[in-house]
Amino acid sequence: MTQEHRNKSGFETRAIHAGYEPDPTTGAVIPPIYATSTYKQDGVGGLRGGYEYSRSANPTRTALEANIAALEEGERGFAFASGLAAEDTLLRALTRPGDHLVFPDDAYGGTFRLVDKVAGPWGLAHTPAQVADVDAMRAAIRPGETRLVWVETPTNPLLNIGDIEALAGVAHDAGALLVVDNTFASPYLQQPLTLGADIVVHSTTKYCGGHSDVIGGALVVRDHDIAERIGFHHNAMGAVAGPFDAWLTLRGLRTLALRMERHSDNAERVVEFLTRHPQVSHVYYPGLPEHPGHEIAARQMRRFGGIVSFRVTGGEEQALAVCERSEVFTLGESLGGVESLIEHPGRMTHASVAGTDLEVPADLIRLSVGIETADDLVADLETSLGA
Ligand SMILES: Cc1ncc(COP(=O)(O)O)c(C=O)c1O
Repeated sequence: MTQEHRNKSGFETRAIHAGYEPDPTTGAVIPPIYATSTYKQDGVGGLRGGYEYSRSANPTRTALEANIAALEEGERGFAFASGLAAEDTLLRALTRPGDHLVFPDDAYGGTFRLVDKVAGPWGLAHTPAQVADVDAMRAAIRPGETRLVWVETPTNPLLNIGDIEALAGVAHDAGALLVVDNTFASPYLQQPLTLGADIVVHSTTKYCGGHSDVIGGALVVRDHDIAERIGFHHNAMGAVAGPFDAWLTLRGLRTLALRMERHSDNAERVVEFLTRHPQVSHVYYPGLPEHPGHEIAARQMRRFGGIVSFRVTGGEEQALAVCERSEVFTLGESLGGVESLIEHPGRMTHASVAGTDLEVPADLIRLSVGIETADDLVADLETSLGA
């Protein structure tokens, strides 16, 4: 099967085959972990397959990059040491001091910290706006200065939905690029580049890796010139994924479709339970018909994913107690692994946004619903909420 044929196949086929041909020497069906920093040259400049030095390229990383590009239907993929490393490289490749960025008013706290505390002092201004409000996003643009319109959809942790197609129009009308952090949806549930976005960002630490055993990030783009600029900075800045990490992430991607189906099934069961619970005051899940972004999510996502946030009637004290009492849901940061996780965004993942426009409610709990037996997940929440 040629690589071109693989790239045109269904999602699950691409997840398993895109980016790698069985090794011509041994027939190994899984790419080796190329634990090498450098490559023998056949005469000066006589590179074998373009490999020169592993910061610039490494065959295990190449397989991951080609695979994730095929899953996102992009032109090129780049694998980084973390999601934040990918974001930092993107910001410095595509903006300059004096430029401006439109940023979600609900986003991962670490991304906000990077934009506010690192890129800000470097000279990049930003304006927060609601991703669910296309007019507010348009109004936040500074003509001639805004280079990027940056969104998460669904957002972390409040699961707001941005209309990717409409936001791409808003960005392009202003001569800016649309960046979509697709970490929560994963390429199985949503492919922003096919809806007009220019750049997809991933914390592959989450659903792409899927097993809570690796930190990584990725960028996928559809334009050749943007790919060249990011490719230059990827090598020049050096925050690349190592071969072991690339291998683990690639292994995770092969089962992404199956996992996302089960995450979505289990999240629906959990949502059904939470929406009927007397001590739950609000459930945030784009699969709920009453969610303000439900129709857009139904249009641009295959299903609604495994993240569920909810608020409790007993305030912060109860939210903390529920987090601490849960047993099948492990108390911990991160999301997107096979195991269920519970956390208190205000004190944990989003502590860095306290006192800003992005501050999250103190009675909020975020669940990353894993792929365990759904009855056990519901029973665990029943115990920790009911006590
Ligand atoms: C939506 C989102 N984007 C980016 C990141 C940053 O990724 P990493 O932790 O891999 O650096 C995270 C991490 O939680 C995230 O949730």
